[in-house]
Amino acid sequence: MELSPFFKSLGLRYPIFQGGMAWVADGKLAAAVSNAGGMGIIGAGHAPADVVRHEIEVAKSLTSRPFGVNVMLLSPHVKEVVKVILEEKDSIALITTGAGNPSEYLEGFQKANIRVIPVVPSTGMARIMAREGVDAVIAEGMESGGHIGRMTTMALVPQVADAVDIPVIAAGGIGDGRGLAASIMLGAQGVQMGTRFLVAEECHIHPRYKESVLKAKDIDTLVTGKFAGHPARVLKNKMAVNFIRQEKSEAQKENPDFGGVEELGNGSLRRAVETGDVEKGSYMAGEISGLVTKEQPVAEILQEVTDQAAKLLGGYGN
Ligand SMILES: Cc1cc2nc3c(=O)[nH]c(=O)nc-3n(C[C@H](O)[C@H](O)[C@H](O)COP(=O)(O)O)c2cc1C
Repeated sequence: MELSPFFKSLGLRYPIFQGGMAWVADGKLAAAVSNAGGMGIIGAGHAPADVVRHEIEVAKSLTSRPFGVNVMLLSPHVKEVVKVILEEKDSIALITTGAGNPSEYLEGFQKANIRVIPVVPSTGMARIMAREGVDAVIAEGMESGGHIGRMTTMALVPQVADAVDIPVIAAGGIGDGRGLAASIMLGAQGVQMGTRFLVAEECHIHPRYKESVLKAKDIDTLVTGKFAGHPARVLKNKMAVNFIRQEKSEAQKENPDFGGVEELGNGSLRRAVETGDVEKGSYMAGEISGLVTKEQPVAEILQEVTDQAAKLLGGYGN
């Protein structure tokens, strides 16, 4: 399918970003996606800077194609992570940012010639980011896995596309070529997928976590953190049910203190990824999990999604 000038300028074959998922998207997954013609993105998450540097080294050793890094702005290590990225500026094509406003780091990235593409949950944030000179925005709906905003992808993407003059990438609930084609119809130039890549062969998450995504039905996700702050979409497991029960009971108190509940969530994604712990691990995944039923190599996923989209679009955009 014909790429937009923006995606062409990134040197990609497919208009597809792999979401920079904390603890999940390591150098190996990112390199596999980049080698297959998409944009592989390492998820810095809450990892210390030396871990991020290591994953960048891994990606560099496995691909000569462009890849990016996702900077989680809530991370206690964000400043050191940004420093590592600037030091590695010749190897990093772009950064995406999650959970906040990356303004304070923008100039540094721009001077280093690294493109900045923030995830935005609303037209207001998209406008602010466009005014500050970012290169594109990722409009992410609440169908997505991980931390979420309030809008759905279907409603958010066209409104963001109308609100800004820079390229828009759609995310949240996109798992196949129908999602890619629909996103293009809504005004996006491409998509970012997270959940579908959770089950890629090159994705290293614990087999129990992967199996849960493969087996999940459409209604098997829950949103934790609705009361305790930072809502996140996860697969229903013991951890999620317990977390929601505790935060609801805290919310009913006269002076709620969510410290204890938040403590329960700390490190829970990492535990899920590394040990598959269902009692204390958060299996972050999106509503599209029900559509994701097969473990496949990254290259096959990209090919399948774009072939299906191209057929549906029937030359649209050519
Ligand atoms: C396990 C997991 C971890 C994630 N971690 C991050 C993160 O650290 N930073 C970020 O910007 N987005 C993060 N995301 C969101 C993805 O990058 C992507 O935008 C999202 O998964 C797209 O929606 P989908 O899951 O429906 O495909 C995460 C998603 C998942 C499933």
